[in-house]
Amino acid sequence: MEISVLGAGYVGLTTAACLAEIGHQVLCADCDLEKLSSLKAGRLPFYEPHLDDLVKRNVASGRLEFTLPSAAIEKGKAIFICVGTPPLENGEADLSSIESVARLIVNSAHGYRIVIEKSTVPVQTAKRLWRHLSIYNTNGLEFDVVSNPEFLREGSAVEDFFHPDRVVVGAESPRAIALMKEIYAPVLRTRSSCPAHPQCPSMPEPKFILTDTNSAELVKHASNSFLAMKISFINLIADACEAAGADIEKVAEGIGSDKRIGQAFLNPGIGFGGFCFPKDLQAFVRIGEKLGCDFSLLREVEKINVRRTEQFVVKIKKELWVLRGKTLAVWGLAFKPNTDDVRFAPALGIIRRLMAEGAKIRAYDPEAMEKAKLDLPEVTYCESAYQAAEGTDAVLVLTEWSEFREISWKRLGELVAHRLIIDGRNLLSAAEASSNGFQYVGVGRAAQPLRPAGELEWADAITAEVPVASHQRPAPTQDASIA
Ligand code: UGA
Repeated sequence: MEISVLGAGYVGLTTAACLAEIGHQVLCADCDLEKLSSLKAGRLPFYEPHLDDLVKRNVASGRLEFTLPSAAIEKGKAIFICVGTPPLENGEADLSSIESVARLIVNSAHGYRIVIEKSTVPVQTAKRLWRHLSIYNTNGLEFDVVSNPEFLREGSAVEDFFHPDRVVVGAESPRAIALMKEIYAPVLRTRSSCPAHPQCPSMPEPKFILTDTNSAELVKHASNSFLAMKISFINLIADACEAAGADIEKVAEGIGSDKRIGQAFLNPGIGFGGFCFPKDLQAFVRIGEKLGCDFSLLREVEKINVRRTEQFVVKIKKELWVLRGKTLAVWGLAFKPNTDDVRFAPALGIIRRLMAEGAKIRAYDPEAMEKAKLDLPEVTYCESAYQAAEGTDAVLVLTEWSEFREISWKRLGELVAHRLIIDGRNLLSAAEASSNGFQYVGVGRAAQPLRPAGELEWADAITAEVPVASHQRPAPTQDASIA
């Protein structure tokens, strides 16, 4: 099918390249001329695993082209709207880009078009879009409006496209439903290979969930809000584990082994970031207000998340006491691994707070340093995790890149000034750290040996009076560490 994708951001570019890979003829459009010329020259505006190869292969085969929105709209029978819906000051989504492409569609298209809303939008946007297209329709355009929310995670977006749990389609006309089934037919069949895997693991066939447009739109915001809620919940439980001397890894395993709950998204840490959860949560709260529904549950989810930065800084100060004049290594800047995206990345907020207290930061991230430099030019950016650790008072793990797991403890021990790891993602093994002479502090993991109650009170009374930097304390024994 001839398809136009409007917007060449994370969602648009991935969707365009994947649709071309499954055999469609795709025109991917953007009004940013600089971005368009980079794409035409084969340069992607962001890092996403497998996407580079996918774009190159499909451009070479002639199934994927980059062009201006009006040219794309003229050709594509199906038009995917993948433009940005950034947050306004009040948390609501800014729909002005959706409105302007709607006008462009009625001005540039002829015959029949299926207009597919993929950008994350408030419930009832498809209805508004339909009304808007009808009002400005002076060319006698025939059209249907469909909601088809995306569930692509940055860092595994290509894999998510080829192996979705579900494809949600909000459509109300038989013609639109038939076209959506035709577009997704290759994805709905179980696959044996895809660009993300040479041999795909066996997976159940994705569900095709057909509904009305309002319900499809709600699925998107409700899914992201639920996942954010799961993260804030496990972060609360991690706090309880720290306070009570329990182990969050075991508690999360115990909770998540209940099939009704599930293991996914029960990893505690420094909080969720990125351009989806924080903004979608805020937008959903505003939607709730407009609908007259009490979404205070979601406000709490947001508050818990915002507090994570400060709590992590307090954790660092508990170990290092005064930060002025201390040098800290930061491993990881991106909001999650396998991406170079630093938008709303918790790491950046933490760094800002540490620098405000006078700490010097030496940072390393495998992909995100160029983007982080634009926000935080004062940081010293290093070429490797080891270089970042040189002469530092502590190493902070802020993104769970797998290369940090492979670290040589011996080499690290020779480089740092003090053997202290503060792991905001529970990435490293506490047992390995302590057997290599490092003080290890994680999230919701007991950092010190469990002591009898009387001893605990006595020791806590002393540390409360005289804060002692953890690197001055003896490293915990291996028995005490929780892997
Ligand atoms: C999220 C959703 O997972 C996608 O389904 C959705 O399509 C996308 O938003 C979107 O709306 O476009 P994404 O933001 O790319 O995807 O990344 P996630 O993997 O969901 O992670 C979000 C944040 O939560 C990251 O900062 C991550 O570190 C954090 N997180 C995740 C945790 O702190 N703990 C966890 O257990 C899982």
